[in-house]
Amino acid sequence: MNTPYGGTLVDLVVGDARAAEMKATAKDHTSLTLDERGLCDLELLAVGGFSPLTGFLGKADYDRVVAESRLADGTLWPLPVNLPVTPGPGIEVGKTLALRDVYGNLLAFLHIEELYPFDKAVEAQGAYGTTDAKHPAVAYLNRLNATHYASGKLEVIRVPPHYDFVELRRTPKELRDHFQAMGWTKVVAFQTRNPLHRAHEELTKRAAEQIGGGLLIHPVVGVTKPGDVDHYTRVRCYRALVDNYYEPTSVVLSLLPLAMRMAGPREVLLHAIIRRNYGCTDFIVGRDHAGPGNDSNGKPFYPPYAAQEAMAAHKDEIGMGMVDFKLMVYLPETETYSPVDEVPKGVKTADISGTQVRDDYLAKGIPLPEWFSRPAVAAILNETSPPKFRQGLTIWFTGLSGSGKSTVANALVERLAEYGRNVSSLDGDEIRTHLSKGLGFSKEDRDANINRVGYVAGLVAQHGGTTLCSVISPYRAPRENARKSSKGNFVEIYCDTPIEVCESRDVKGLYAKARNAVAEGKGMGFTGVDDPYEAPINPEVTLDTSKQSVDECVGVIITKLIELGYILPHGHIAV
Ligand code: ADX
Repeated sequence: MNTPYGGTLVDLVVGDARAAEMKATAKDHTSLTLDERGLCDLELLAVGGFSPLTGFLGKADYDRVVAESRLADGTLWPLPVNLPVTPGPGIEVGKTLALRDVYGNLLAFLHIEELYPFDKAVEAQGAYGTTDAKHPAVAYLNRLNATHYASGKLEVIRVPPHYDFVELRRTPKELRDHFQAMGWTKVVAFQTRNPLHRAHEELTKRAAEQIGGGLLIHPVVGVTKPGDVDHYTRVRCYRALVDNYYEPTSVVLSLLPLAMRMAGPREVLLHAIIRRNYGCTDFIVGRDHAGPGNDSNGKPFYPPYAAQEAMAAHKDEIGMGMVDFKLMVYLPETETYSPVDEVPKGVKTADISGTQVRDDYLAKGIPLPEWFSRPAVAAILNETSPPKFRQGLTIWFTGLSGSGKSTVANALVERLAEYGRNVSSLDGDEIRTHLSKGLGFSKEDRDANINRVGYVAGLVAQHGGTTLCSVISPYRAPRENARKSSKGNFVEIYCDTPIEVCESRDVKGLYAKARNAVAEGKGMGFTGVDDPYEAPINPEVTLDTSKQSVDECVGVIITKLIELGYILPHGHIAV
């Protein structure tokens, strides 16, 4: 078919000699660090995935793309691919920009020919059909500080480097050659940003059968919808599935470094164009393809089959066939799958939504049923998204000296072991002899001390461990930092024991010392005496050890941890 796509593939990567020449001048140019989307866009431009584009869009192309999904010359191109910048020294027409990744790797040079302002609302409304910030692409636009887009000749020195799943990252040229070597004249591509379950397996196998050709499973590993399963986990699932449940000669798994915009009906066209460039002849479009979810009023941004309609209208122009599917559902009585529109009246169907997978199965540690997911896939998902009671946790005791933190904490360690949660303790005094040796009691030093404790606890929590911290931690900000480090798996226990009681206990004699120091006019910066204590605003647990026994305190904490799902009640067997 005669289309602008998939023909001569652009390869913007310059040869070694030119690269050496350009590298030598790199320090003379202003550098720009690309964000994740910029890196993905650059990569797809460089390898020809975005063919016929050979660079970021200039103004005439951009305006027409936003308004009517076409380049200035009329070629179908549904979404903006731009380089946002703010003009300044070195970012001027006629200058050259050095594009780098966050590690400073030099990737490409852009010889600026155009710099033009853009209007976020016009782009959002035109390209995505909405200015609602719940749309991920609108949210991205809103976050941009840049005022202009830059375009011009692009010279790529190096495709953004990857170190994961390298053997699965094939370029358009490599895939086209591979298909040829397999003897495939027809190839249907499957786009995905989610783990694959039985319904998808069925859908992809049927699609390949329908076209009488090979299958390319082509998951996006660039930027997907916020909250999606990370690509490492997904690729492990794809591999498990492809290696065990497909005929090896019928399928190819390859990864696509695309930054999705979640633009439904416009994005499906981009997906199809890209797959055409990668050598495919047909494209699977199911329900809610590249859907961004619901808007601020709880309504879907696009109708569920809007992408199919868009693809139907443009497939010939792209030069791709469409294999369209209605929602694929399970029929328990016959233990088969079927598109929902082919299910005879009265026949029972079953399905599990993405939200149910997360909330009703993974979050509870319940294995996904075999009719829904292959066991190898289910095992990976269960392992990488453990339920709360198997996730890491930071338990943070805060309160005045003598408020009972360490006493309750020590008792809690033993009770937690009863529930299978084994704990490492970070106690204030101990930390100051190791982790924070040399720090004093000024505000900066106290903040540094607590930030260190929070950082360490956060690392442990992120790797599934439990840390119990008992530190005065008088200031709110570092405690909030600690909560963030633990990605929210953080239980703050405020020992709100009256200062008179703490002072009467004065186990370490510190209150007496502080009072004397104040009396002598020197002061010692002691919390509660001559330094403030900022009480937590919303602690998960508040205790008063002047009124509650250690046993009672531990009981309150255990009850809270059960309520939050961090431990299972006795007698409740984890599956
Ligand atoms: S997408 O954002 O990449 O479209 P996802 O990975 O969930 O999200 O979907 C990939 C493709 O599979 C899309 O074409 C989608 O419409 C299709 N799809 C996903 N689940 C089903 C299903 N149960 N039935 C039919 N099509 C589906």
